[in-house]
Amino acid sequence: MSEITDIDYGPLTDLIGVWKGDKGMDIAPEPDGTEENPYYETITYTEGGDLTNAESQVLSVVHYRQIVKRKSNDEVFHDETGYWLWDAREQVIMHSLVIPRAVCLLAGANYKELRDKDGDLIIEVSAGIDDMDWGIIQSPFMKKNARTTGFTQKIKVGKGKMFYSETTMLDIYGRVFEHTDQNELIKE
Ligand code: HEM
Repeated sequence: MSEITDIDYGPLTDLIGVWKGDKGMDIAPEPDGTEENPYYETITYTEGGDLTNAESQVLSVVHYRQIVKRKSNDEVFHDETGYWLWDAREQVIMHSLVIPRAVCLLAGANYKELRDKDGDLIIEVSAGIDDMDWGIIQSPFMKKNARTTGFTQKIKVGKGKMFYSETTMLDIYGRVFEHTDQNELIKE
């Protein structure tokens, strides 16, 4: 990896920094229904410089760590890490994530600059269990009992504010469940 100087992070540029938000809402599965968990969190995005794959693909790398706490008891109930990656030449954005349930995935998309009416940048990626490019890996237990079949994520970022929403499709407790999370964060 090269030193972190003058790296073009493209659409990831605005993410870099420490973000905090306390308007989080998690909708999670329960055997006989749904659990709603208001939460607060810190997401730290760190510059990772760039690297070259197979002497041809140059990726700009942003590492992140997301620590999420339940408002009801201040305990960490979601701890996620991974990388956001930007391929400037191919205009591809990627998001690899790992959670400590033995589930990881690589979401991605061809990127086209998109801004909302306030001028904030919109970033969207997705992964699917049958997607040849953007896939999901999980343990045999999770495959059998709490299978993640899809993931979509949308981030709006600009002027020191970020909003994200994500949907994780689960096959769990004999039904299909839309596990959703969203929050608004402010850059420190
Ligand atoms: C802010 C983000 C997230 C929060 C706060 C969160 C929180 C939760 C909670 C509270 C449960 C229920 C656990 C239980 O009842 O024991 C759950 C279940 C689950 N989550 Fe998440 N989650 C988040 C994101 C994700 C992501 C990104 C994935 C995977 C891509 C994921 C995969 C799962 C799976 C597979 C389960 C089923 C396990 C179970 O309920 O026993 N979650 N999550």
